[in-house]
Amino acid sequence: MVEKSLSAKPTTIDLGGPKVATWAYGDTLPGPLIRATAGDFLRLTLDNQLPDDTSIHWHGIRLHNAADGVPGMTQDPVKPGQKFVYEFTAPDPGTYFFHPHVGVQLDRGLYAPLIIDDPREPGGYDAEWVVVLDDWVDGTGRTPDEVLKQLIAAGGSASPSSSGGMGGMGGMGGMDHGAMGSSTGAQPWGDAGDVTYPHFLLNGKVPAAPETFAAKPGQKVRLRIINAASDTIFTVALGGHKMTITHTDGHPVVPQEVSALYMGMGERYDAIVTLGEGVFPLVARPFAKTSGGQALGLIRTGAGTAPGPDITPAELGGQVLIGSQLQPAESAKLPAKSPDATVQLNLEGSMQPYHWAINGAPFGKNTPLTVKAGQRLRINVMNMTMMTHPLHLHGHTFALPSGLRKDTVLLGPMEQLPIDLDADNAGKWAVHCHNIYHAEAGMMIGLNYV
Ligand code: C2O
Ligand code: CU
Repeated sequence: MVEKSLSAKPTTIDLGGPKVATWAYGDTLPGPLIRATAGDFLRLTLDNQLPDDTSIHWHGIRLHNAADGVPGMTQDPVKPGQKFVYEFTAPDPGTYFFHPHVGVQLDRGLYAPLIIDDPREPGGYDAEWVVVLDDWVDGTGRTPDEVLKQLIAAGGSASPSSSGGMGGMGGMGGMDHGAMGSSTGAQPWGDAGDVTYPHFLLNGKVPAAPETFAAKPGQKVRLRIINAASDTIFTVALGGHKMTITHTDGHPVVPQEVSALYMGMGERYDAIVTLGEGVFPLVARPFAKTSGGQALGLIRTGAGTAPGPDITPAELGGQVLIGSQLQPAESAKLPAKSPDATVQLNLEGSMQPYHWAINGAPFGKNTPLTVKAGQRLRINVMNMTMMTHPLHLHGHTFALPSGLRKDTVLLGPMEQLPIDLDADNAGKWAVHCHNIYHAEAGMMIGLNYV
């Protein structure tokens, strides 16, 4: 059994220069890593020391409904001063994370990695590094709640920078919406992001004081990369190296070598890298940008000068992998079966005005999708908007037409994607965009067993 207590509390975090008053689990950003082995029983106590209701959602874990952490759906909100005990078995190995399912609290810094080890896995690497990416909204004195209010009031053009250009639809001009699958480093989808962030973080540090990983040349490292950002899809690359992707959202894939990959909010990728000698940047470029990049982290295996934060390694200009192009490992495939039922899920809305919805209405006003236990359900997802959205399903994993298993998948503008799942986990589950601002503004729907 793995037992841990997590205090959600106001605290001051040193981002490696900037000190910010915010909310976190304990006094660190990310919060404390939780690690268990597949099949383990976890007892995790949330101690709410915040001046606000909260909860914890264990993102990607196929757990029983009562532990899923969605107030109004699976539990009452945890009030200030209250505790709530989450008890569940973690059935599947993989890279996960956790965060509140209340408002836009995730964007305050309430997140932490959760790793479920595979007892049967051979390992075969020398080191393992957990890499958590984030976009940091604070630094302008505004809380995420205030940012959301401004987005709604300003029709989507709120931006901490004076120009406002990146925050609104303006950033999408001229981008190619149709080039999915033929990426050559040019951005395949239009997306501006809703908020311009003053900082991007790797393991809670700004690029000026980057997290530095040390290893020996020739060593094999497993990277467990988690995009915990609220509003930023990243293009991720490791300077001087190709990465071999081995898992996405915890599920094994046919190992695929890539120069760079897109990571939607809520997605996780595991990669194996054989390290050269020197100092190498771990670079992320926000999706809204077509050039540049920031060395959010460093890998040091020998002598050498660290590259500055503003570096664009060749890898960022190479082939960029879209996760849905990966092929599933045999063991990760759903057994072939035609769907027993099909439901439609339309992602709808726009930046101006700032309205987001699913199936004709924002969450709370839309009609939950339904499924019967034992069914193979096809959810026919249609992105009716001109933005890219990472769609996340609670309590289950789904298969793409290729068989690839995911729990969070990026849909480009006007993209249609059927996803199949086995209804083997009764309850009331959330399906939503993992842009936390979109979700909170209504881009969410229930999936209820009937
Ligand atoms: Cu990480 Cu409902 O989401
Ligand atoms: Cu969205």
